[in-house]
Amino acid sequence: MSNELYAVVGHPINHSKSPRIHSLFAKHTGEPVEYTAIQAPLDGFAATVHQFFDSGGKGLNITVPFKEQAWALADLRETRAEKAGAANTLYQNREGQLVADNTDGQGLVRDLTINHGVQLKGARILILGAGGAVRGVLGPLLEQQPACLTIANRTVAKAEALATLFADEADVTRLNACGFETPDQPFDIIINGTSASLLGDLPPLCTNVIAAGTVVYDMMYSLQTTTFNQWALDNGAVRVFDGLGMLIEQAAESFLVWRGVQPDTARVIDALRND
Ligand code: ATR
Repeated sequence: MSNELYAVVGHPINHSKSPRIHSLFAKHTGEPVEYTAIQAPLDGFAATVHQFFDSGGKGLNITVPFKEQAWALADLRETRAEKAGAANTLYQNREGQLVADNTDGQGLVRDLTINHGVQLKGARILILGAGGAVRGVLGPLLEQQPACLTIANRTVAKAEALATLFADEADVTRLNACGFETPDQPFDIIINGTSASLLGDLPPLCTNVIAAGTVVYDMMYSLQTTTFNQWALDNGAVRVFDGLGMLIEQAAESFLVWRGVQPDTARVIDALRND
């Protein structure tokens, strides 16, 4: 059988790990998948997507800075993409309509619960940031029914807007918004969804938010411990994780959407950790 074509679209795209991840999924599952990386011009995202599907491509992952454009371009959106306001997965349905999905939140939830054994139901969660990355994961996190979910952000109004947007989904969860300095009690789970680490910056949190049992999760990943996770370790956290598992789990969920086959993510996490 000849390979079917998939790709990730972003700008820049040369550092993307998606081709390596999906090639490993294809190898392990035996699915006839060829996966490449496409750098779309900043003003040419829609043309790039249409050209890809018109020439027989089967599915796309979308990354920075095009996730919101992918959402807007689609004819249909899966429920989890609708509320996220951004899409990381595109495909065409049988009628040729462009469908947008968002697997980021599922990726985070699976990495926390399955790979790290963290219980989200009933947990007290602090999430930092109120940009696209956080908006993309709030729905799937709330579905897990944490006891409370506090969104803290540098610009408090953006955290408040997200809390309002997701109020309907928070039926059993106390959902609230604040600035970084406000929380002063320990949380069960702290998730960093700001881009502060990219700049080597730290959100000015009170160290009381960390207790020995607190799970700290940075949605960023890097070969070295991230700036945020190092701060957490220095202030008493024992269990800190970076976002490599989330990256691989969101990819696996896209692969499942496209191919109907669930890849074994543990092997791929091991492979990438040792690259
Ligand atoms: P992304 O798609 O990665 O979420 P984004 O939508 O630009 O990108 O959001 C970036 C997030 O990181 C925001 O919550 C931003 O805070 P503001 O809403 O106040 O801008 C946060 N952020 C970026 N740089 C930061 C820094 N140096 N310190 C703290 N928060 C920062």
